[in-house]
Amino acid sequence: MTDRIVLAYSGGLDTSVAIGWIAEATGAEVIAVAVDVGQGGESLETVRQRALDCGAVEAYVADARDEFAEQYCMPTLRANGLYMDAYPLVSAISRPVISKHLVAAAQQFGATTVAHGCTGKGNDQVRFEVSIQTLGPDLKCIAPVRDLALTRDKAIDYATAHDLPIETTKKNPFSIDQNVWGRAVETGFLEDIWNGPTKDVYEYTDDPTFGPAPDVVTITFDQGVPVALDGETVTALQAIEQLNRRAGAQGVGRIDIVEDRLVGIKSREIYEAPGAMAMIAAHRELENITLEREQARFKKTVDQRWTELVYDGQWFSPLKANLDAFIHETQKYVSGDIRLELHGGRATVLGRRSETSLYDFNLATYDTGDTFDQSSARGFIDIYGLSAKTASQREERLHGKPDLSGAGVQK
Ligand code: ARG
Repeated sequence: MTDRIVLAYSGGLDTSVAIGWIAEATGAEVIAVAVDVGQGGESLETVRQRALDCGAVEAYVADARDEFAEQYCMPTLRANGLYMDAYPLVSAISRPVISKHLVAAAQQFGATTVAHGCTGKGNDQVRFEVSIQTLGPDLKCIAPVRDLALTRDKAIDYATAHDLPIETTKKNPFSIDQNVWGRAVETGFLEDIWNGPTKDVYEYTDDPTFGPAPDVVTITFDQGVPVALDGETVTALQAIEQLNRRAGAQGVGRIDIVEDRLVGIKSREIYEAPGAMAMIAAHRELENITLEREQARFKKTVDQRWTELVYDGQWFSPLKANLDAFIHETQKYVSGDIRLELHGGRATVLGRRSETSLYDFNLATYDTGDTFDQSSARGFIDIYGLSAKTASQREERLHGKPDLSGAGVQK
């Protein structure tokens, strides 16, 4: 029986050429797999037909937008997932969901190998292949750009020679990956990290400099995920889509960063994630009022480790699952409303309200109604500072009084 290979298919030039390229290089039949994670553009039907026209023996298409929003974007929100404190993992979380569909398609069509269009220099090849190995340990992986010398120029020549139904002239200087959680743009003049981004880089966000009047939105959360916007019930996908529009119109969520790739390269990337960044700002503030102090401090470390694992392609790993369990448990009381002002490129929290808040007005107030017993603070401080004080007394005994000469500038 002829060997079969499933290919992660975008509908673009490179993966359209890859269908025939892989078939010629390996003698296998190629099955195209297209997964909609909210990247926009052409319909799945158009993409499916193109795959068949380019020589795929079968085409598997899946609308995974709700699955992606609920099972990948929402966990990222609950983890306040920002790699290097800035990047909301846009591409990193789409690879595992696409991999799941690739493995399902491989099983359905009896394929032995999975192919993807990544280069050998990025994180995405790692994310795909580690996910695929984990979900389908018997499957092999192949990347035509990396393993079968499929360069851009060769792809253009091949498409022209074989008269493939795909545009070969459109010249986009950037490499772009986008989905409902955000958009990543790299290469071209951005590779000179002294160059600022030009207007044509952006698509999900408008220029915040000349934005419209401020937009105030109330996000209602239930256990760490948004369930209503301005009182209207929404699904996870709807929450992201609606906030992408509203926060995007205000220029919220533009990110310009030089990041550390897993493969050891530092790379410059522009991201746009208006909905994600607005939601993370709101979620963090809701955690501020609903998580107990020690839980909140520890969760920061867990969030960061979770984010690094996900960035590094370990979505389906045991440690990531363990950290998920911790994060999930912390979200029990992360419910309530956050009122957010979207304006001038920023999402600013104006108000917070929660039935499960730990904020106690009577403990916090400096006005009448204060229930906090200030007299107990003295004894607390005596004991809390005792160990540092004891160490300082030893210092004085051995080396004399503390040096205060750096304190202030005397004239
Ligand atoms: N650097 C980002 C990541 O590793 C985005 C990668 C895809 N970006 C792109 N423009 N092709 O998650």
